[in-house]
Amino acid sequence: MIVTTRNLFEAAYGKYAIGAYNINNLEQTMGLFRGNLDSQAPFIIQISKGARNYTDKHMLEALIRASDDVFPQAIFAVHLDHGDEETCYDCIKSGFYSSVMIDASHEDFETNIAITKRVVEAAHAKGIVVEAELGQLGGVEEHIKVSEDEARLTNPNNAKEFVDRTGCDSLAVAIGTSHGAFKFTGSQSLHFDVLDEIQKRLPGFPLVLHGSSSVPQEEVKRINAAGGKLEGARGVDVNQFKRASKLGVTKINIDTDGRLVWTRVHREYFLEHPEGFDLRKPGKIFMQEYANFIAAKNEKFGSAGQLDIVRKLITEKGQ
Ligand code: G3H
Ligand code: 13P
Ligand code: ZN
Repeated sequence: MIVTTRNLFEAAYGKYAIGAYNINNLEQTMGLFRGNLDSQAPFIIQISKGARNYTDKHMLEALIRASDDVFPQAIFAVHLDHGDEETCYDCIKSGFYSSVMIDASHEDFETNIAITKRVVEAAHAKGIVVEAELGQLGGVEEHIKVSEDEARLTNPNNAKEFVDRTGCDSLAVAIGTSHGAFKFTGSQSLHFDVLDEIQKRLPGFPLVLHGSSSVPQEEVKRINAAGGKLEGARGVDVNQFKRASKLGVTKINIDTDGRLVWTRVHREYFLEHPEGFDLRKPGKIFMQEYANFIAAKNEKFGSAGQLDIVRKLITEKGQ
């Protein structure tokens, strides 16, 4: 069942976070649905601009519609990840996405507000919810590059003004995470002090954490042992997310960790089977490993085991 992120946030706020996972192909989609059902978790499927252009924007849409039939128990939202204004309008028009992200965080404050406001008006007219972003993460964000030194955390006062003036439904905040596999040079904690201040000014308002992969060191070790070169890859401590969810973080974005699972499975498979060329062999292993990975993540986010409660809430609201 496809729902809006608003439905999911109402159920989760202050208690746990919903995992938001990027997909690009069939194997990720299968693993994603299986892992979420194995762990009985509601979830968010994210499609980036890059994913829409990987083959054809309609391909992932068709995969998701088919998955909805194959896995009728699943409850999920379909979300555009890091949209620009034009892509947001395209997704709003398509009638398929239940939620879009307008990412104008690289613009100055007033321009970010103006762009976000336009998208909110267009989306709300069609019952679609909008995630916006304020502050800049370190690392690489699609078309935007921000080095770790220049990363700017979200200003709590600006966050309140931004939400009031744009009417957005959730806000991605910069509290020390960054995209990709090389997040920190040393170890680094989330900036809970900043998060705390943001939540005080926006009580009850869903906050989003991008760049939240934990880059498990065991995964990195196995990839490197099988011929990879990911020395120094490092991510966020996965045990910090439950605390963050009590402070209003309701959606946690994960892409890189899933890519690491894919890389490990395929590197190890072809190292052990140099004679192999049947793509379904590693593909099958990947789907299972990806499902296991998703289920384990949902345990850490607290969304595991919440599916029936969410179903009940949504059904009651619909009556
Ligand atoms: O935050 C960006 C996501 O990881 C999506 O990455 O633009 O390479 O699909 P992508
Ligand atoms: P990671 O690179 O940490 O997985 O972040 C993904 C993300 O924020 C997608 O929007
Ligand atoms: Zn992101």
